[in-house]
Amino acid sequence: MRANPSPGASLPGRDIFLRNGCGACHRVAGTQAEGGVGPDLSHMSSRGTIGAGVLPTDDEAVRSFIAHPHLIKPGSKMPDFNMLPQQDIAEIASWLKGLE
Ligand code: HEC
Repeated sequence: MRANPSPGASLPGRDIFLRNGCGACHRVAGTQAEGGVGPDLSHMSSRGTIGAGVLPTDDEAVRSFIAHPHLIKPGSKMPDFNMLPQQDIAEIASWLKGLE
């Protein structure tokens, strides 16, 4: 299902995001992620907050939201992704944060 990556356009965060099924619930413009359950993550860097306004859009907040959405937003429909390696979560967070 992977599109041919163009040489030099290695985006590990995007690959990890797609590989872990985040796109089943989230849309990110320009990728195969077309989910409509969670918020559209196409323009994370231009948003001031995440988690319905509870956290700033900084790297650490995005990482902790991905690992433990329930701690940050009780009743969240997003499953915990705490089982992912820290490095993978960090790659996703830095990719998402760079989306304008
Ligand atoms: C089963 C559906 C589902 C999956 C799978 C899912 N999410 Fe979410 N996500 C949500 C929902 C719903 C929210 C909104 C918060 C809430 O109400 O629970 C959310 C919120 C977020 C937010 C905060 C966005 C904001 O503006 O508040 C980020 C970042 C995020 N998800 C990243 C991810 C990543 C990365 C993955 C894959 C590792 C992922 N999500 C997988 C449903 C999902």
